Amino acid sequence: MKKIAIIATGGTIAGRGASGMTTNYKAGRIPVSEILRSIPDVSDRFKISLYSLMSIDSNEMGLNQWVLLKKTIEDIVASSAVDGVVITHGTDTIEETAYFLTLTLHTEKPVVLTGAMRPATAASADGPFNLYQAICLAGSSKAVGQGVLALFSSTIYSGRDIQKISNYKIDAFDKANTALGFMKDDEVYFNTTQNKKHTTGSLFSTMPLDHLPEVDIISYFAGARASLLDTGAKGIVIMGSGMGNYSKAWYEEMKILHQKGVYFVRASRVLDGIVFGDDVFDPDHICINAFTLSAHKSRILLMLSLAYTKNLEKIQEIFTEY
Ligand code: SIN
Repeated sequence: MKKIAIIATGGTIAGRGASGMTTNYKAGRIPVSEILRSIPDVSDRFKISLYSLMSIDSNEMGLNQWVLLKKTIEDIVASSAVDGVVITHGTDTIEETAYFLTLTLHTEKPVVLTGAMRPATAASADGPFNLYQAICLAGSSKAVGQGVLALFSSTIYSGRDIQKISNYKIDAFDKANTALGFMKDDEVYFNTTQNKKHTTGSLFSTMPLDHLPEVDIISYFAGARASLLDTGAKGIVIMGSGMGNYSKAWYEEMKILHQKGVYFVRASRVLDGIVFGDDVFDPDHICINAFTLSAHKSRILLMLSLAYTKNLEKIQEIFTEY
């Protein structure tokens, strides 16, 4: 029997609201043990250990919670003979936690995040089946060494690329660009694998994470004041228009801040696409380009990169590799 550890952090999957309703609920109110009881046969097929780490809405997640989660997973994996780990998590910020763990976890064992769009008390809640499939995925030998994964609506995503694209539908994540594979009930089918560096191959998985620099995300909008960029943070991810773009006034301010030691990443507010280097918008080459990373994932990579090096070229190389 495969041994799976489930670490609960809260989210809609553990949400409680008016019976049958899908909105106006409170996240993180129902213990995972209760959700597990609604999944037939799961305890006959897997030896499950439960860890109630947090009961929060994922909008309360931040660096402290990520580091705690990483340490908890690594302790469980090191001290008990588990085959895989499942994390239940709110969907709002799951893509950020998933990428932080992708970059920092030092294990080859499957780690699968899942959640739900409907609270546990809703008619036809989606959480129990997502949890069931996440447990099956975490127990699959096919998932070993694949990095941090996420499972939603029978679809397998990488922790690097998972991205929420609907705040309403059950199938809330971007299948077209980010799916690694699919599941048919308990059967696992990978179509492709993650080529970017992750987990044991990531230089950040053995690095101390106690003092990461502050990095902010500032979104460009028509007429945005350049003074918005002066947040006091060590790094700024620009969620630019189009291919990571902004006004001339913004670039003048960026050059001043760059002289003062602030690092800039050019990312985009457009969900689909790539941000390459650009001689027109960044003629002085003071920016790091996000390539296919979203602004939110770029922020995490910049925080970790700045804790490792202050060399702009090296950080740009990291952004091509992770
Ligand atoms: C949350 O992210 O904790 C609430 C929303 C959700 O889980 O879908």
